[in-house]
Order: sequence, then structure tokens, then C-alpha cells
Amino acid sequence: MNRTAEAGGRGMSFSKNMLTLNPKELDSRVFYSYMTGAVAPRPIAFASTIDKEGKINLSPFSFFNIMGINPPILVFAPNNRGRDGSKKDTTLNLEEVPEVVINIVDYDMVQQMSLSSVEFPRGTNEFIKAGFTEEKSVLVKPPRVKESKAQFECKVLEIKQIGSMNLAICEVLMAHISESILDENQKIDQTKTDWVARMGGDWYARANREAMFEVEKPITKIGIGYDAIPEKIRLSKILTGNHLGQLGNIENLPTQAEIEAYRAMPTMQNIIEQVMYGCAFLDNLLHAEAARLLNENKVKEAWLVLLQNPHP
Ligand SMILES: Cc1cc2nc3c(=O)[nH]c(=O)nc-3n(C[C@H](O)[C@H](O)[C@H](O)COP(=O)(O)O)c2cc1C
Repeated sequence: MNRTAEAGGRGMSFSKNMLTLNPKELDSRVFYSYMTGAVAPRPIAFASTIDKEGKINLSPFSFFNIMGINPPILVFAPNNRGRDGSKKDTTLNLEEVPEVVINIVDYDMVQQMSLSSVEFPRGTNEFIKAGFTEEKSVLVKPPRVKESKAQFECKVLEIKQIGSMNLAICEVLMAHISESILDENQKIDQTKTDWVARMGGDWYARANREAMFEVEKPITKIGIGYDAIPEKIRLSKILTGNHLGQLGNIENLPTQAEIEAYRAMPTMQNIIEQVMYGCAFLDNLLHAEAARLLNENKVKEAWLVLLQNPHP
């Protein structure tokens, strides 16, 4: 396919398998589609606000994240309407009453949350339109969404305007977390959550148990690093970048005594036999076995396998 011709418009070029885009030369909606498609999934701030007359508003915003822990800071950004540049009701409310409850959205709420994003006339209460239940907040005027399993009562420190965006910088004054997602130590049990996040177009992601996996944090130790892995292993056709990342995260390589002791393992004996009868190359067998172990997060054992080769 001739992608160069396809991407031939101003501000777009295609070279070395990469599409290169210049936001200064592109329509902002076109560039936006690439940004939201690539910076994804994004969590959703379901923002409950109130105007000075006490009218309540509820809208979702995926330009949202945690930006600080001391003090705890959440930021989200309502853009001005593309149609006429006018401010969204959420921004107008925040300017009148600088308080917000940011409710986190999970799968049970996703369709109603989407319904609430319809551009209803100013003053419409989306709690009613989308069928959510108002729960009185403790420290701020806007109500919480009872159905949300994590609710953050915030005061708005600043609304930073950059072009058509209004970045609301919010300090969390109080949080409420549903018992249904807590473990016995009152911590959030990530496996009990079912958060949803926005991607590009109409796509959402569901961060439930099936979608989640763990990566051991390398903060308590200093791994040997990718560059300390012997070249033959680094250039393996069997081991992937993820496998090499795991291998480089080990603090110390196994000792010679450990390597020799591991040779007695039935899996090792099996490999040695296959090589003796000329059935396969030692490296391929060792790398395949190491890959299997790394997929089970058994990093030290993977090294013990790889170092069986006297010339790794
Ligand atoms: C999941 C989701 C995420 C959204 N994220 C944003 C966003 O980050 N910024 C924005 O301006 N609009 C966003 N929207 C659109 C607003 O929710 C929509 O414009 C809404 O009508 C604004 O309501 P308001 O005028 O009552 O504040 C999002 C919509 C959905 C469904």
C-alpha cells in the first residue's frame, strides 16, 4: 500500500513505517483523534458540580489524572465546545462554585455515564437524566454519585486556561471508597475493581481481573540492566523484549554452585539428552525453557537455565 500518497496531506508524512504528524499544520480535530487513540486508555472523572443557584451538573471527562500526592491533586480538563467555543456547564459551574466531586466510573455505570454526556441545556441535572443517585457530600456542595465505588470531594485550586482547554487543578479534601472493592486491611483490592477507561473513537477499556497483570517494581533493588545480559541471550530469536526486561531486573546472577546444582533438574537432563542425540541446538532449547519460566515470572530459574550453556 502506498501510504505516502494516502498520508500526503499537509502536516502528515509517512516514512520508515512511521506516520509523522505536525499539529501546527493539521486541523485540531484530526490531531485530537490521534492523541486520544494513542494516549489511551484514560480514566474517567465523572464530575459533579453546582452553580451559585444550587443547580447540579454531572459530566464525564477523560482528560483526567492524579497529579500529586502531597497534597493529593486530581486534574481534569473540560474543553470549550468545538461548535462555538463556548464554555461547558462544568467550567461555568467551577467558576461560580470552585468545588467538585470526582467520581470514578466502573463497568456497572458505563452506559448511564455515557448517557449523561449528552449536551443537555444548561441547568439540566444529569443525575436525573442518566438515573444516578445523589449522595450528600461531607465537605463540598456538589453531591457524590452513590453508584460510584470511589468518590473524591475536591476544592478547585485553579482553572488554568490554555487555548480551548480549561484545566481544573483540584485538591482532594476527602475520599470515599466502597467496601466492595476493599481487602481485609481496608486497602483497595485491585482484583475487585472493574474500572473503565476511554480510548479513541467509541472504544472503552475494562480494567478487570482478566485485563490486569503484575510487573514487579524495581525500586527496592538495582537490577543488573539490559546491557549486562550476555550478547547471545540479548540477540535470542526466542526471548522477547519483555523477557530481557525481566532478566535485566535481577540484582545478582546465580552462583556457579547454584548453576551446577540446577543441572540435576529433570528439565535440564531432558534438554541435555536432546542435544546429545543431536535433536536440537542447546541455545534454542535453553532459551525456550527460559522463556517458559519467565512467562511464569520465575526470573532466577530462567537465569539458571540460560547459564547452563558454558558460552551464553
Ligand atoms: C467518557 C467521556 C469522556 C469525555 N471526556 C471529555 C473531556 O476530557 N473533555 C471534554 O471537554 N469533554 C469530554 N467529554 C464530553 C463531555 O462529557 C460533554 O461535552 C458534556 O456534555 C459536557 O457537559 P457539561 O456541558 O454539562 O459540562 C467526554 C465524554 C465522555 C462520554
